This record gives sequence, structure tokens and C-alpha cells, in this order.
Amino acid sequence: MSIDYEYIRENIHVKYDELYLKKILLSFYNQSLDISTFSIENRNINKVLNYFFEDLLYNAKSKNGKYSPSQIINNDILLDIALKYINEHRNFYHNKSDITNLKDFFFSSSMVGKVTNFNPVIARKIFEYYMPFQNSTIFDYSCGYGSRMLGALSSKYDYNYIGIDPYTHLYKRLLLFSDWIKNTIHNNGDTILFNTGSETPIPSLFNKIDLSFSSPPYFNYEIYTEEYSQSYIKYPTYNEWKNNYILPTIINIYNYTKPNGLHIVNLQDTKRIKIIKDWLDIALATGFKLEEIRNIETLKRKSTKTENKLLVMRKS
Ligand SMILES: C[S@@+](CC[C@H](N)C(=O)[O-])C[C@H]1O[C@@H](n2cnc3c(N)ncnc32)[C@H](O)[C@@H]1O
Repeated sequence: MSIDYEYIRENIHVKYDELYLKKILLSFYNQSLDISTFSIENRNINKVLNYFFEDLLYNAKSKNGKYSPSQIINNDILLDIALKYINEHRNFYHNKSDITNLKDFFFSSSMVGKVTNFNPVIARKIFEYYMPFQNSTIFDYSCGYGSRMLGALSSKYDYNYIGIDPYTHLYKRLLLFSDWIKNTIHNNGDTILFNTGSETPIPSLFNKIDLSFSSPPYFNYEIYTEEYSQSYIKYPTYNEWKNNYILPTIINIYNYTKPNGLHIVNLQDTKRIKIIKDWLDIALATGFKLEEIRNIETLKRKSTKTENKLLVMRKS
């Protein structure tokens, strides 16, 4: 079997036609979502996120596996191992193209630590369920790969969206993405992005936020970039991270939130880190009141037994 490495490297990220993506976004914008359940009603919209963010997402690595997808794609030996494995497990990988099979492999093999991205349909449902009011202001304290931005800007509630991410390359991509969304659909809300860590206070946000929601880093479970501004690089032990990232982040969010506003966080414990209890304890000590805890459907490989929890709190 001769492998065309360059073909795979050049075509791993699908080069969708922009008009096609605009149609997908418009149809998502015009779709009313059933907010009585946080299920995923539209899977096509992920193509839009892949087009803008998949390359950066593939550079990141989770502790779930040994290599990031990019490390495999860019190394002939690792790529050989992956394709050989696929070839030997045809009952699972069927006869799709090498590229489609590789993408399935990145999702299902323990050789690969592919990082997760929150689902944009669930993000929009969370906003529309908890904040069904025109022009409310949403704060995403850890934007990541654009899913909450997409969820907020594609809602008919014309949300204002304020987002933060310290990863400079990703921040620039998020700026492009918000412009692209606003050039495609009608949204009267304002979008403001900050290229900083959420532990740094931003005085202009005091008392401006109706609802904060994000999926923060789970300490060093996922490595997004080697930039120093990453919370797990600045604060390399879990205790330091808890005191210098979680605590000031929650205090900032509390100060940004209007009275009666909501603070929502999507969390997942890892084998070693019990972040759900720590986040909740700090938020309650800061002054938030717990309203509910919900389980969240996420796309995970079957071997991963951990569950995502959505903590919903209010500033009374
Ligand atoms: C959104 S989070 C977690 C992604 C998660 N797996 C998900 O499902 O959405 C990932 C982002 O956290 C960002 N991040 C790292 N340090 C941060 C900090 N101090 N403040 C805010 N965001 C931070 C990273 O740059 C990265 O883009």
C-alpha cells in the first residue's frame, strides 16, 4: 500500500465552499430549537466550526491519548501506524476514504488525545432556556473554538456576546469568525472580545453581564498551546491553579454579573482532579446561590466514563 502523505496533509481539513457554509448558518439561524431538552438537533452546523477552527483544535492535545491529531498527520511513521490500524479493523472503519477514516480514528483511538469542543446547538439552547430576553449580555469566560460564540450570535434574541481567550492565534480567528457570522445573519447585538486570561479583572465589565457561561480548562487535562498566558502554564500545580485561576475568575464573574444574573459552568472531573466540587465551593463562598445541576450530553468515546455537569448559579 503506498500512502500519499502530502494528499492527506493537504486535504485533512475540508475546504468547504463559503456559500454552502453561509446556507448552513442561515438555516440554523432560522431553526427554532426545542429548548425543553438539551439534545443536539442539528449536526450540520459543526461544518462551520470545523472550517474556522479545526486546524487549531487538531494542534491541541488532551491527556486522553498520546498524540495530538496534528502530531499524527505530520509524522510519516505515526500516520503509517494509524492507517495500518484502520486497515486491520475494516469492520469498524468500513470503506470510507483515508481522510474520513483518520478523522474517526482521531475520535476513537487511545493513541490520540483529541480535545473536545462544546456543542454549538446545546450552547444556544442553554442561552435561550436560561436567558430568553432580547439583547441580554452573555459572557464567555473561555471562548475556545467558537461554539458558544456561534450559539449566542445565531439566536434570534440578538444577544450581546463578550468573550475572553488568552490564546492569541485563536483570539484572531475568533475575531474573523464573529465578523463572518455578522456578515451572514442579522444580529443587532454587540460583540466584544478580549485577548486575556479570565483571572485578570476588566473594570469596564462590572455589572454588565446577564449570564456567564463557559467550559473552562480543566487544569492541564487539555493543552491548547504553549503560550505562557495559558492558565496551566502560569500556575503549574493544581493548588496554585485553583487559587490563581479559578478563584479570581469566579470573583471577576461575580463582579461583572448584574443582580439576579446567572453564572453557568460546564465541568468534568478527571481521574485526579475534582474540579466540580472545587468550582462550586468557591462560587458559593463568593456569593452565588446554586439553582440546579444538570447532566450534559457530549460526544465521547465509549471508554470514557466521566460525565459533564452543568452547574447553574444565581447572584441574588
Ligand atoms: C473553552 S476551554 C475548554 C474547551 C473544552 N474542551 C470545551 O469543551 O469547550 C479552552 C480554552 O481555554 C483557554 N484558556 C486557557 N487559559 C485561560 C485563562 N486563563 N482564561 C481564560 N481562558 C483560558 C484556552 O486558550 C482555550 O482556548
